[in-house]
Parts: sequence; C-alpha cells; structure tokens
Amino acid sequence: MKKKPIEYVEISTNILKKFDNRLHFDIYVQRTDTDYTKIFKVNDTIDWDRLASYEKKGVKSIFVPQDQYGKYLLFVELLVDKLLSSNNVSALKESVTIVKEMINGCLVEFLSRDVVNETMALQASKTVSSCIEVMDKDTGALTKIIGQMVTKPYLFKHSVTVSLLSILLARGSGIESNSTLNIIGLAGLLHDIGISRLSFDPEDKQQMTPEEQKEMWRHPEIGKRLLDPVKSIRTEILDIVLQHHEQPNGHGYPNGLRTAEIFLPAKIVSIADTFSAMIIKRSYREEYSTFEAINRMKNDVGKFDKNLLLNFEKIILGNKKEES
Ligand SMILES: [Fe+2]
Ligand SMILES: [Fe+2]
Repeated sequence: MKKKPIEYVEISTNILKKFDNRLHFDIYVQRTDTDYTKIFKVNDTIDWDRLASYEKKGVKSIFVPQDQYGKYLLFVELLVDKLLSSNNVSALKESVTIVKEMINGCLVEFLSRDVVNETMALQASKTVSSCIEVMDKDTGALTKIIGQMVTKPYLFKHSVTVSLLSILLARGSGIESNSTLNIIGLAGLLHDIGISRLSFDPEDKQQMTPEEQKEMWRHPEIGKRLLDPVKSIRTEILDIVLQHHEQPNGHGYPNGLRTAEIFLPAKIVSIADTFSAMIIKRSYREEYSTFEAINRMKNDVGKFDKNLLLNFEKIILGNKKEES
C-alpha cells in the first residue's frame, strides 16, 4: 500500500530560539516544494551554530511534521504562560509574537483537518484566553497581532480579526466575565469554519453562481455541524456560529430571525464580521478605511444592533474625524 506523504507545518524560528530543553518534536527544512530534510530529531538539544549556518545559507523557514505539531503548540502555550505571568514590558512584547503563533497554530488545524477534535478545541480556547490576557495588559496589542497577519490568506486574517474585534466590542459593551469573553472570542475565531468546507473558495470569486451562493448561505450550518460533536465547545459557541449572519430586521440567514430571537453575542460577532470583511483587502477590491466601513454599516439600517454599533463606532473611531 502506498504510504500517505507526511505533511509539514511551518513554525517560528524566533520561538524555537526560546527552547532550551530537549526537543519533543523533529525539525525539518524544506529543500523543494515536496522535499524536506530532518535537521534535528526528538530528544536532541538544538545546535544553535548549525541552525545559524542554515539561516546563513538562506533557509528562512523551519517545519515540524503535522502529527507532531500539537507537541510544538504545547511548548508555545507554556512559553506564553510564563511570559504573561512576568510583568515586564519586553516579556509582553514577546507574548504578542507568541500569541500570534498560537493563533496560527490553532487556525492551521481548524482550517485543514477533516474533523475537529477535543485537543484542537482546548488549544483554541487557551489561545483566546491568552489573547484576552495580552489585551488586558496592552490594548494596542490587537493591532499588532492583526498587523503581523499580513501574509496570511483571507479567511485566516478574517478569523483572527473577527475574534479580537468581537472581544473588544463585548468588553466595550460591558461584558466583563472572562468565560463569556472567551466564548465570544472563540466563536469569532471559528465563525466561518464552515467556509473552509465549501466545494469552492469564495475568495476566488468576484461573482458567485446561484448554486455557489446557495452553498455559501449554508456555511453557518456547516460550521455548527462540524463543531457540534466536540464536547468542550459550548452550545453558546454553536449558537453564535449559526447566527452570525442573522440580522435584527429579519433579513439575515439561515433562519431569518428577528432582533429578540438573536443571541446577543451573535450580534456582536456579526458587527465584527462585517467590519473585518470591509477593512481587509480582497482579491477583487481594495480595503475600505475604518471610517468608510463604519459609515457604510451605519447606513445599512436594521442590519445590526443599533446600540452595539454605536459602541463599536466609539471603540474604533474614538474621537477620530474623517481623514481627507
Ligand atoms: Fe460568515
Ligand atoms: Fe465572516
């Protein structure tokens, strides 16, 4: 029987540099599109001179095999815990980079695996908690994390942006409980997971066919179904994923719910979702400025919860006036 080729996931060299122990995973460099060479193996201690010599030769990226990726993520989690518990400024800076790596890690898993499992869900929840903790210490961390995502594909950037903006809006609307913020942030991160399971990539399409549009409208249900079997994913998260395209005026999908029937956190994610879709550059159009995005949303009367949108405007624009 033909062996399935091993898949590899890129990891951060900067984070590896914090590793001062024996490795729990193998490390590879990429020779060609399909050819990888193992440079360190489990139980090795890293030979920094050798790693530096690879970097000198132009090796920019290092990889771990997909089946050992969880072990790498575990190390990243421990590292961020350590940094967040110390209160100095440079540790906080480093935490931002590491949280980005955690987000990277959990999204790679969620967007590429056929099924969602308990470990992935717990890792994602831990990632969102670390995001909240970083934001607690530095409110500007949000822009830094989003800014570092520039090279990522759209769905990736969008998921991160929606998660972080949802947490901000929830906070700005008086939600203080960490467990509720975690639910909202996690739902923001996973709200479009159904899109990664469609038969086409909507990012390739400026215009969808009627059949594709119909399939697209099913992504909230597909997402909910995918997450449903995972015990640690709470029902509130499933509700948000299912309802993030509902609108208070009843014109949303999949169920055309009206304002009182829509779960408040779903209204929060809906605002973050639309805003994020507008401020990120798409394959078929330039990004909108934050000012223009907010204005367009305000003009879409009935699509969003009015009070939440006002809070959101305050958070995003503050006292900023239109720059022109
Ligand atoms: Fe969506
Ligand atoms: Fe979305």
